[in-house]
Amino acid sequence: MEKDWVKEINKLKKERKAVVLAHYYTLPEVQDIADCLGDSLALAQYAEKTDADMIVFAGVHFMAETAKILNPDKKVLIPDFHSRCSLADTCPAEDFAEFKREHPDHKVISYINCSAAIKVMSDVICTSGNAEKIVGSFGKDEPLIFAPDENLGSYLNRKLGREMLLWNGGCHVHFQLDEEDLMDARKKYPDAVFIAHPECRESLLRHASFIGSTTALIKYVKNSNEKNFIIATEEGILHEMKKEVKDKELFILKKKNLPNYGCAYMKLNNLEKIYACLKDGVNEIVMDKETMDKARKPILKMLSLS
Ligand code: 13P
Ligand code: SF4
Repeated sequence: MEKDWVKEINKLKKERKAVVLAHYYTLPEVQDIADCLGDSLALAQYAEKTDADMIVFAGVHFMAETAKILNPDKKVLIPDFHSRCSLADTCPAEDFAEFKREHPDHKVISYINCSAAIKVMSDVICTSGNAEKIVGSFGKDEPLIFAPDENLGSYLNRKLGREMLLWNGGCHVHFQLDEEDLMDARKKYPDAVFIAHPECRESLLRHASFIGSTTALIKYVKNSNEKNFIIATEEGILHEMKKEVKDKELFILKKKNLPNYGCAYMKLNNLEKIYACLKDGVNEIVMDKETMDKARKPILKMLSLS
């Protein structure tokens, strides 16, 4: 007989003094057992404050790594080491180091979706929830590099009138969506308001009534008087959104003829693997002290500015 994973996980969480953190893109049943469910910013803020002995991070690798950097003396575990992030992977450390060397007078703002090695080379980190504030903390004429998400960087350049140099990385989930997909969706849902995550392309973002992080998108839908929404981000967000707005129609923007649209990396987190982390301490994030110490500075700077 299959175990009652929820019951077992809750029991082990108490025994181990552990917490489970989950991103909105994870499976619904994973979101439901989380002590903290949130966007990248909320999860980093929670990780900074928690007094738990053990953190199981149901997200992707850079998120668990960030939690470890903030908690060097705690056990931080990831349910599946294959939970990478395609966006973080578009920015290899050696290539970025070379890019940085070519622009020695530039400060570096890195989106949290990057490896610890990139964080070490950054002056400050940002998430989609605080990016405008973080960029705004630099003087208008200060030369800046923004990495690794080109779509988010160019959105910030347009919105804030900046000319940051951009690394040309992107997330496969958001990058693939384009105008034609929206036109298609609009034929089906002509009255729906279109909202989007800033990791989407400019050609799509220019049609959006609202652009924001996953938390901001959920809040927007909740507080809006409108009833129907087309949403351009990963489909896992619908679980929490539907809880918040029971009386509204929500449609995730999909690529035509592409049934498996979501972030496969996020979906690798499941209850059985979370249970294994809690029970046997498997998949621990291990990092060297020097990297953690150097990467912590730009993360703490972000948290203090948020
Ligand atoms: P937020 O959690 O900041 O909304 O970003 C979405 C994302 O792609 C996380 O990997
Ligand atoms: Fe990374 Fe994209 Fe998945 Fe977010 S949705 S974790 S940016 S691959």
